Amino acid sequence: MPADFDTIVNLSKRRGFVFQSSEIYGGLRSAYDYGPLGVELLRNVKDQWWRSMVRMRDDVVGIDSAILQSPEVWAASGHLDSFSDPLVECRECNSRHRLDKLDDVDTCPTCGNSGTFTEPKEFNLMFKTHMGPVESDDNAVYLRPETAQGIFINFENVRRTARMKLPFGIAQIGKSFRNEITPGQFVFRTREFEQMEMEYFCRPDDADAVFAEWVDIRRQWYLDLGMTPQNLRLRQHDPDELAHYAADTYDVEYLFPWGWDELEGIANRTDFDLKAHIARSGEDLTYFDQEADERFVPYVIEPAGGATRTTFAFLIDAYTDEEVNGEQRTVLRLDPRLAPVKVAVLPLSKKPDLVETTDTVASLLRERWQIEVDVTQSIGRRYRRQDEIGTPLCVTIDFDTLDDHQVTVRDRDTMAQDRIPIDNLVAYLAERLPA
Ligand code: GAP
Repeated sequence: MPADFDTIVNLSKRRGFVFQSSEIYGGLRSAYDYGPLGVELLRNVKDQWWRSMVRMRDDVVGIDSAILQSPEVWAASGHLDSFSDPLVECRECNSRHRLDKLDDVDTCPTCGNSGTFTEPKEFNLMFKTHMGPVESDDNAVYLRPETAQGIFINFENVRRTARMKLPFGIAQIGKSFRNEITPGQFVFRTREFEQMEMEYFCRPDDADAVFAEWVDIRRQWYLDLGMTPQNLRLRQHDPDELAHYAADTYDVEYLFPWGWDELEGIANRTDFDLKAHIARSGEDLTYFDQEADERFVPYVIEPAGGATRTTFAFLIDAYTDEEVNGEQRTVLRLDPRLAPVKVAVLPLSKKPDLVETTDTVASLLRERWQIEVDVTQSIGRRYRRQDEIGTPLCVTIDFDTLDDHQVTVRDRDTMAQDRIPIDNLVAYLAERLPA
C-alpha cells in the first residue's frame, strides 16, 4: 500500500528522519532539522548525485561557492528585478497567498470569502541581510536563492584552472534560501533547502541535442536508484511558465500524495547568464574554440534538482505496508545505496559471549558501512524496526556462532536467511551493498 502524507510525516518524526526546527520553542514554520537517520539518507542522496554527475564523468567538475555573493550577481542575473511571486492578501482574514497557485483567484482558500483579495503585488523571494555592523542599503546582501549563480561567476576560474574544454559542466550542491509565500507539504517546499545543480556549457549549435541528452540522463538517475517508474514523469513547461532565463524546460515530476509535483527542472538557459555577467562585470567570459578558430558565449544546459525534496520523494516511494504470515510489517524498500543504515548487527541475547562476538563483527563491518548494533527486545521486533528504517541486511549472532563461527544474514525484502562464515561476511555483504 503506498504511503499517505501523514504516515510519512509521522514516521519521519518518530524514527528520527526529520524534526521540526526549534521544536522546544514551539517550532519555526517551514524550517526542519534532519535527525540521525535523515542526515544519512540526505547525505546518501547527495553522494549518489555527486558520484553520477562528477566522479563518474570526465567532463564535469565540482565547486562549492559562497552563500553570500556580491549584490551585483543578483542584479545581473535578474533575481533582484524578476525573482518574485504575485502576492495577494485577504482583507477579511489577513491570510496571504500566491495568486498563481490559487484554484479560484477570487476566493480565499482560508476563510472562503470571495472578492476580498488586495491587488496582487510582486513579492521578491530573496532573503535580505546586511554585511557588517551597519544596517543600510549600501551593505545589503542576499542569501543565494539558487546555487547556479555561484557557478556562472566562477566559469572562467574553473575553465582556466581545470583546463576544461567545451562541452563541460560545473556541479554544486548546497543550501539555497527563498522567502516562499506559501511553504508547505513538510520538507517539499521550505524557505531553507538544499539544491543539486549542474551547469553544462556547450556550443550554441549543440544546445538542443545536449538538452535532450540531459533530460534523459536525469530521468534515468531516479529510476536507477529504484524510484517507481509509474510515479515519475517528464513534463515540458508551457511558454508562459518558463523562467525569465529559460528557452525550454522539462520538469522531472513525482507523484506525491497530493498529486504530480516538481522534483527537478532541466532548463536550456541559453547564454543568458554569462552574457548578463559579461555586461555587468565587464569581464571576458567568452570561450575561444581553437579547433573552429571561433570566440563565442557558450550556451548552458542546467539540470537543477532539490536534495531535500528528492530525499522526501525517495522516502515516500520506498514506504510499504504489507502483510506477512498474517502479521503487518512496514518496510522502507530503499535502494541499499540510499539506506541510512546498511547493516544491523543483532546478538540473540545480551550474554557476554555473544556481546563480545557482536563487538568483533561490528568493528569489522563499521570500517566499511554505516551499521547499527541493537541488543534490545525480541529478534522479531528488532527485524521489524530495521525494516521500518530500510536497513537492507541484518546480521544475527546466535549461540551456534560461538561454535561454528557463522552468522545469519537476513534480507530486508525477501526475508530470506543465509548462514555465512564470519570470515566470508564482508565479501558476502559487499556483493549486496554497491557503492
Ligand atoms: N537554478 C535553477 C533553479 O533554481 P528551480 O526550479 O527554482 O530552478 C530547482 O529550483 C530545484 O530546487 C527544484 O526542482 C526543487 O527540487 C528545489 N527547490 C526549489 N525551491 C524549493 C523550496 N522552496 N523548497 C525545497 N526545494 C526547492
